[in-house]
Amino acid sequence: MNEIFREWTRRARRKGITAVMSVRHSDEENLSASEKMKLDVLNFLGRNYGSLEGKRILELGCGIGRFTRELALRASNVTAVDMTLGMLERAKDYTADITNITYINSRITDLDALPEFDIVFETITLLHILDEKEYRKSLEIMKSAAPYIFICEHMADSAPVSPYSKLRTFEQYEQDFKPFKLIAYDKNHYCAGDWFPMMLFKK
Ligand SMILES: C[S@@+](CC[C@H](N)C(=O)[O-])C[C@H]1O[C@@H](n2cnc3c(N)ncnc32)[C@H](O)[C@@H]1O
Repeated sequence: MNEIFREWTRRARRKGITAVMSVRHSDEENLSASEKMKLDVLNFLGRNYGSLEGKRILELGCGIGRFTRELALRASNVTAVDMTLGMLERAKDYTADITNITYINSRITDLDALPEFDIVFETITLLHILDEKEYRKSLEIMKSAAPYIFICEHMADSAPVSPYSKLRTFEQYEQDFKPFKLIAYDKNHYCAGDWFPMMLFKK
């Protein structure tokens, strides 16, 4: 477990967007892939969830805040959670001009007494929860936090996997989020050559 913490602390010191993306690609490739991914995710939410205006969002594994910023600019407020202090510090810097974000330094499984949210949002975080018990508990917390859950995850395909990742399949996520219903998805969402399906669940 400590090794995973150390790895994320190391990644938080990586230059630019590569802190939350693969070192298999150049900084330029990662930057343009990240811009595309932000647009894809926001468009998917706009089409399938609707406007974020007035919404209270719980973002899990916010990393350096690239989505936190976009969400906070559109929603009523964002509570952004990450277990890595170095990531949160970068996220705070990146969103220093925005006042409707609350940052929490915590593992998902250590969150308690959360207020009500309209939607739980996470990108590329569940695959880094390797321990099956912790993964299951994280999903339970997500399901209890809001009536909608959005995920965008690197899923099982032929891409190389780091020792800090566990790729699950689209079907497994669909199964694991039950009794939430999968109400919208994009199975063919590619980013920088990897497969990152998006899924929206409703209670
Ligand atoms: C690949 S980064 C993705 C960051 C952000 N969602 C994005 O797409 O830019 C994964 C983040 O999840 C955080 N993380 C991983 N496991 C976590 C857990 N169990 N609880 C809270 N944060 C976690 C890491 O510290 C890291 O910042």
